[in-house]
Amino acid sequence: DKIKIFAPATIANVGPGYDIFGLALEHIGDTIEMSWRDDDQIQIDPLDGFPEIPVAASKNIAGIVAQEMLKKQNIKKGLNIRISKNVMPGSGLGSSGSSAAGAAFALNELLGKPFSSTELIQFAMLGEKATSGKAHADNVAASLLGGFTIIKGYKPLQIFNIPFPENLYIAVVHPQIEVKTSDSKKVLKKELGLDAVIQQGGNIAGLVAGLMGNDFKLIGASMNDLIAEPIRSFLIPGYHQAKKMVLENGAIGCSISGSGPSIFAFTDGKAKAKEIAKLLSDFYNQLEIDNKVYCSAIN
Ligand code: HSE
Repeated sequence: DKIKIFAPATIANVGPGYDIFGLALEHIGDTIEMSWRDDDQIQIDPLDGFPEIPVAASKNIAGIVAQEMLKKQNIKKGLNIRISKNVMPGSGLGSSGSSAAGAAFALNELLGKPFSSTELIQFAMLGEKATSGKAHADNVAASLLGGFTIIKGYKPLQIFNIPFPENLYIAVVHPQIEVKTSDSKKVLKKELGLDAVIQQGGNIAGLVAGLMGNDFKLIGASMNDLIAEPIRSFLIPGYHQAKKMVLENGAIGCSISGSGPSIFAFTDGKAKAKEIAKLLSDFYNQLEIDNKVYCSAIN
């Protein structure tokens, strides 16, 4: 038995939805091939140019997730896991999340689908915990379920999808400086004042209503975030200038992707997303910061 799957990269938080909102991207992510071995070893083979991916099963995200699932099923078989990544670890595009989600999905198929999608998300969250110290579900849920996902709650874990406008596109720039989710979670304030909670709640509600009601103006007006953006933006060179530039050039909204340093902008249509991606790339080229841009719909 052998399986090959694609696990999309994701944008977590999506403005005001810290640890709550996630969306899956098109064509960007991990391809994972998994097959049984005759012995009980878990062998990881990275098939790409990211040599820093740990290959020991207990250190590799996909390996950690697979070990937990096999343990739960009381299965002592080994696995070959071949991972091809096209999103760099530390980009803020859910690189660890897509490996965790992809491993959970692929192994569930090999096992004959014993686990529900919520259980797969929980296994994948163990991979996130190992990398970032916190078992956030926003990346892995979006990667496993696709579309736009909302974590209604963590205890118990409750996740659902909402519809979004068909013409909503995304331009992403990854300025290639590394920001670790674990570090970038530590810098956040642990408390928020009542005024901020009210504003944040309004933005969360506004974004959901905007997405479900195809209201691009409301989506844009709701993209402000008072939890992560004010602090993490300091870790991203040129962030405020880049955001201002894309909004002046017709992007609907703009924020940090996950824990950064990638920045994303929503646009009305693909052509606009391409134009905005080009502006972002030119901007970081001018700052002499290597960068990679992507255009995508929600997948
Ligand atoms: N919600 C998580 C965070 C996502 O912002 O730390 C990390 O990609």
